Amino acid sequence: MKSAQIIAAAGLLLASTVHATASSVYSGSGFGTYYYDVVETDECGDNFEVANTGQVECSLTQVWTLNDVNSDYLVAMNHSLLVGDMSEYCGKKVIVSVNGVASDLPLFIGDGCERCSEGSATSATWDPYGAPGLDFSYTVANELNSLACDDGHIEITWEVVDELIYQFDTTGSGEPQGFVSTSSSSAVAQATAAPKRFHA
Ligand SMILES: *[C@@H]1O[C@H](CO)[C@@H](O)[C@H](O)[C@H]1NC(C)=O
Repeated sequence: MKSAQIIAAAGLLLASTVHATASSVYSGSGFGTYYYDVVETDECGDNFEVANTGQVECSLTQVWTLNDVNSDYLVAMNHSLLVGDMSEYCGKKVIVSVNGVASDLPLFIGDGCERCSEGSATSATWDPYGAPGLDFSYTVANELNSLACDDGHIEITWEVVDELIYQFDTTGSGEPQGFVSTSSSSAVAQATAAPKRFHA
């Protein structure tokens, strides 16, 4: 009991430090699943090659697939909420916590998730057809919680903050899309996952 409280308190302390720089735009608790993986295409009995060719919702008119983004740090959120105000969410940093411990993965919103838009936003019960949460790459889901493969879903809390990691064309302007080079966290994402063509 004591140690659990200490861990929870440490988590809060860490979370408040992380959040000091950017304001929150969307937070919640629910379930994390996975639907693609551009780095490891065969994992947990699944092959993600077809999924990786899917168009991401944050690119309004340009054809831009998960393979084009080429980063396992892309995250999908409540589809209805996302399409209601794309510039508010697309490319923004997501801090995901498991058991109250915030991960430092440089995650960012890039796609819509149907399951995450159906059912009650406050439901605490897993339902594959409707439950609040986020949808990840297999690599990230497994990194957040190694039960991802066996259970198919993991319990998470999340906070999307007002820090742009990836620039999407949410308006159909035709502007180039890619990692924002000024942010330190995006530099990590770029170094590990971005294709060469983003370096002009
Ligand atoms: C998804 O977002 C819509 C629009 O804001 C909201 O009405 C709905 O309750 C949300 N669903 C979930 C599961 O969070």
